[in-house]
Amino acid sequence: MSLTDVMNIHVEKTTRSKINEVNFNDLPFGKYFSDHMFSAKAVNGEWGEFQITPFGPISIHPSMSALHYGQSIFEGMKAYRAPNGDIMLFRPWENARRLNRSAQRMCMPNLPEEYFMEALTTLLEIDQQWVSGKEGNSLYIRPFMFASEPVLGVRPANEYTFMIFSSPVGNYYNGPIKLMLETRYSRAAKGGTGNAKAAGNYAAALYPAKLGQLKGYNQQLWTDSSEHKYIEESGTMNIFFLINGVLVTPPTSTDTILPGITRDSVIRVARHWGVPVEERLISVEEMDEVIASGACTEMFGAGTAATIAHVELVNINGVDRMLPSIEKREFSNKVARYLSDIRTGREEDIFNWTLRIPV
Ligand code: PLP
Ligand code: COI
Repeated sequence: MSLTDVMNIHVEKTTRSKINEVNFNDLPFGKYFSDHMFSAKAVNGEWGEFQITPFGPISIHPSMSALHYGQSIFEGMKAYRAPNGDIMLFRPWENARRLNRSAQRMCMPNLPEEYFMEALTTLLEIDQQWVSGKEGNSLYIRPFMFASEPVLGVRPANEYTFMIFSSPVGNYYNGPIKLMLETRYSRAAKGGTGNAKAAGNYAAALYPAKLGQLKGYNQQLWTDSSEHKYIEESGTMNIFFLINGVLVTPPTSTDTILPGITRDSVIRVARHWGVPVEERLISVEEMDEVIASGACTEMFGAGTAATIAHVELVNINGVDRMLPSIEKREFSNKVARYLSDIRTGREEDIFNWTLRIPV
């Protein structure tokens, strides 16, 4: 008997779908939510109470631990529609694994991958019309886990809730992005939680990002917290440079950078195409030099929500450094198209990355 045989998801469907209220031609990120959500509860590490219910508010206790001490983690993934109508997920097993790595770091319970996958696919089958299939659109899926025990003492909670909901979305950024090198604040420090997808990491980034946005930059380009000497990542994206034909990205071994699934996919595709890849430290000084000299021909961010985001310019210590025009960027344009075609089933999935849900 497999774990999912005993999972037994209780399903209560909505009597009134909200899908007709959605303008699929204009989908600001996170404005709309699909009709249903999944939830489950773990008490002393044992998962149960699996249910799919109409999407809506949940009731919480004011002393719920996640609100006070921040045991809260999440994932982000997208569903697409293949030409034959199937629903496509991109490397969902990696999200299940990363959720558990984040859980371990935050002293939260393991969620068996079988439960994650069964919850996800059952929910998607029910909300399948929300994957519109329109060019540029996808259904953004948000699995998350939080400490739901009412407890005031500072200790790992004994009760957790895992949920999944989804939101039809268009592009996260409307065009190439402007970054500002961050040399004062940090989102993560060595030994901290930067390599976990922990809610608090995003809170730590809000204030510096707001300061940058007030000056017209989309995101901060984070540097290491001890010397602000080496590039780490940006916003909700890993960062890549093409320098003299070599694809360079900071290593995730520092434990301050989220190991992105898009990052890993870009690296694997580059290697498959014979493009040399270096996962190594890149200093601010080097970045400044290679942009100024023209040796850096491409710079982009990579992430689920942002997909491949071309960097138009970087503000380095007060000076805007422009990168070459987007049309000239062969590698990033090609990898963006290739990954998009794999995700939507228009390109042969030679890496075995997609999961098809026939509808
Ligand atoms: N870095 C951070 C901080 C993120 O939030 C994300 C988004 O999930 C990424 C990188 C990219 O990760 P992925 O490609 O798995 O979405
Ligand atoms: C993602 O790319 O999935 C993210 O986590 C971005 C999200 C925080 C908006």
